[in-house]
Amino acid sequence: MIDDTLKIFKEFTKKDFRILAGIELGMRDFEWVPLLEIQRFAGLPLDKLRYRLEWLRRKKMVIGTLDPYEGYKIYFEAYDALALHTYVQRKTFSAIGDEIGVGKESVVMEVQKEPVIAAADPETFILKLHREGRTSFKQVKRTREHLAGKEHFSWIYAARLSADREFTIMKKLWPDVSLPKPIDQNRHTIVMEVAKGSELSKTKVLDPDWYLDEILRQMKLVYAKGIIHNDLSEYNIFVSEDGIQIIDWPQYVTLAHPHADELLRRDVENVINHFSKKYQIERDIDETVAEIKKGVAIDIDQLKEEFPEEEKLPEEELQEFKSESDVESEVDFEIDLEDE
Ligand SMILES: Nc1ncnc2c1ncn2[C@@H]1O[C@H](COP(=O)(O)OP(=O)(O)O)[C@@H](O)[C@H]1O
Ligand SMILES: [Mg+2]
Repeated sequence: MIDDTLKIFKEFTKKDFRILAGIELGMRDFEWVPLLEIQRFAGLPLDKLRYRLEWLRRKKMVIGTLDPYEGYKIYFEAYDALALHTYVQRKTFSAIGDEIGVGKESVVMEVQKEPVIAAADPETFILKLHREGRTSFKQVKRTREHLAGKEHFSWIYAARLSADREFTIMKKLWPDVSLPKPIDQNRHTIVMEVAKGSELSKTKVLDPDWYLDEILRQMKLVYAKGIIHNDLSEYNIFVSEDGIQIIDWPQYVTLAHPHADELLRRDVENVINHFSKKYQIERDIDETVAEIKKGVAIDIDQLKEEFPEEEKLPEEELQEFKSESDVESEVDFEIDLEDE
């Protein structure tokens, strides 16, 4: 999937990216973006535009219709290509490496940034491409409710919203909480540092008591900021000689969430059950939850101010989202225009 996109990506011309960005922009208002809308954005004569659209259609980047008018929409793969293109232009990274994880709701790859100093080693980062709109029925249903009449837009919206949430919360928590440093964000994707060590689920640690205590200590730090991870388990915790790092944040909730207590308890339960099964360490779940909450005084009203996005009405959220993308598309393509 992504491999195919990467192969095709190399064959893309600048015009192809403008065409895809034009369709992306148009999809906020149209299910099928009219040919003339695309032309307005891409600035190509119609015959050339149709030729490139046909090429993009054969590469399964776009799909077209002639009824009731000639219009196009992009596939997820094109959305990936647009994000990759933006990162390369911004010099966030310059090369794409191996796919290292395919989760339910994401594809995760290694990427390389060229060193600033000659003869230094390239830096490796992690690119996470969100897939929520495509794979998660729940998420799509939720965003459908937000998107009355714009269902065709729901996958772009859902995946983008998740990437936004994940990047924003990582920026808020890092470096006080131990997680990979967030580096950059575009569309439905984020770039971060490589987590140290390996997943807790794939490791047998020599000092499990120490690691369990360290995980609980980090959970308390997160909680003290008014946040609950809400998908914590041995799969989202990395362990190394230096300690632990927590990944996979898009589904976090704040303590203002009506089920905050239950969700915290479930995270604690997941962690404690893992250490009990694998290392026969027994800890009382209720006592551990109490320990995390002890001494933490959160002003819920202040929290709501700090996380207004949690409180926003869907329509408001969509409106902001739309105006953000406008600016972004302009900026992304300025460079293109200059060197043409
Ligand atoms: N920063 C990172 N460093 C190393 N590996 C990572 C990193 N982020 C994600 N991964 C790998 O990719 C997998 C999926 O990423 P994750 O953020 O957990 O998304 P999902 O929601 O799909 O589980 C992880 O289980 C992990 O193996
Ligand atoms: Mg995960």
